[in-house]
Amino acid sequence: MHMRAVVHFCRFLLSLDQPRSQLTAAELDVLLKYARGAKIAVEIGCAEGKTSVALAQAVAGRIYSIDIFSRGRFGISYSEWTAKIHRRRRGVKNLEFVKGDSKAVAYQFPDLIDFLFIDADHSYDAVRADWNLWGSKVRPGGIIACHDCRIGPNNRNCLDSMRFYEEHMRHAPWATEIDGVDSLAVFRVLSTGAHDPLQMQ
Ligand SMILES: C[S@@+](CC[C@H](N)C(=O)[O-])C[C@H]1O[C@@H](n2cnc3c(N)ncnc32)[C@H](O)[C@@H]1O
Repeated sequence: MHMRAVVHFCRFLLSLDQPRSQLTAAELDVLLKYARGAKIAVEIGCAEGKTSVALAQAVAGRIYSIDIFSRGRFGISYSEWTAKIHRRRRGVKNLEFVKGDSKAVAYQFPDLIDFLFIDADHSYDAVRADWNLWGSKVRPGGIIACHDCRIGPNNRNCLDSMRFYEEHMRHAPWATEIDGVDSLAVFRVLSTGAHDPLQMQ
């Protein structure tokens, strides 16, 4: 696995590979449709920055992309470097990478968000934390998109994120599902701020 990551990174540096992403073309289209016009957009789970850069080119304002950017055997985070080089190659100026655990970053993030894309740790508790903590920062009328809510062409395995979607996201009183394609679900936030994020579904 490590060797494959190194080979992909070298090929990327030589412009033989593009940054990788599990998003389908249809999912990216839907994301861009809802992100357009956002003044503050947040992606949780950046990986190699392919979606982050595409979002940055679509939004009117700034995008913050959060990732732990874990390091490989030589202490290097290839995904972080790939994301940063990709951003520079595309001449994108409105994209900021934030290195850290999404939960810790959420507590420090002050702004009211227009567009939120959740695609980080897919375990049940992590998705619940991202949905509740970050969801409470999205303004009423704003958008939350979540990846891996259903089995899709790029993901044939059942994930905890799908269980959380079925058990909680679909029934949240503060957000309503308005669109979706493949494994992506899109919600419009109805109300926020008044909720205690830890009590929210
Ligand atoms: C599926 S990838 C993201 C893909 C990306 N959104 C895209 O469209 O290409 C998931 C990413 O979440 C990151 N991640 C996992 N747990 C995290 C956490 N607790 N906080 C922040 N990022 C995390 C991983 O490092 C990984 O890069």
